[in-house]
Amino acid sequence: MLINRITKQDVPANPIKLFEIWFDRAVKENLPMAKIMIFATNDNRNIPTSRGMLLQQFNEQGFVFYANYSSPKFNAIDKNTVTSLLFVWPEHNRQVRIEGKLKKISKKDSDREYENQPELFKLLAHSHIQQSQAISDIKEFDAELEKLKIDDKPRQLGRPENWGGYCLVPELMDFYQGNFEVEWPISRLRYVLVENQVWVVEDLVP
Ligand SMILES: Cc1cc2nc3c(=O)[nH]c(=O)nc-3n(C[C@H](O)[C@H](O)[C@H](O)COP(=O)(O)O)c2cc1C
Repeated sequence: MLINRITKQDVPANPIKLFEIWFDRAVKENLPMAKIMIFATNDNRNIPTSRGMLLQQFNEQGFVFYANYSSPKFNAIDKNTVTSLLFVWPEHNRQVRIEGKLKKISKKDSDREYENQPELFKLLAHSHIQQSQAISDIKEFDAELEKLKIDDKPRQLGRPENWGGYCLVPELMDFYQGNFEVEWPISRLRYVLVENQVWVVEDLVP
């Protein structure tokens, strides 16, 4: 597969459009990592930490995912609101690095997404045993789940306040296009947001 070099002359002015082209192809070809991204934050010690997340949707605003608002990944975002996402599609020799600020999505959108979650995830969101906490005996957690399964309360309450979505609003997007057949050309470019909706794009040495 020989892929032409991507350069600032032939890419869309808005990086989300380029992301859309790459993402659509990854989904169409059922790449295992099509919708999986690495989400990186700083923890309370100001140490970078990252984890896999599922991209639920994206639009001109940014990239949306859902999680427990009280989980460790969000512990330090009030101190450092800039976080980053990384998509890697090895089958296409592509990666996209994204930096931006997190914005909570509306309660209405979180409610809607919560309703679409599998039953088990909905119940888990109501557990008093918090995600990522250490537990002395994992059977306590199994017992908690069993209790939630027969309890009517979680179903009546709907989405708990601490479960919902964030949108990462991009300020920088860096696209890397490798090539399988020959070592060259590898190409790379970076978009930086300079003002509302205005992006500057530069070719980078890969
Ligand atoms: C493929 C994959 C997708 C994941 N998607 C999500 C997700 O959408 N939301 C989420 O909260 N955790 C997701 N996780 C779990 C996270 O990687 C992580 O373990 C969890 O959110 C706790 O992270 P924290 O302790 O840094 O808060 C996913 C894990 C994998 C392997």
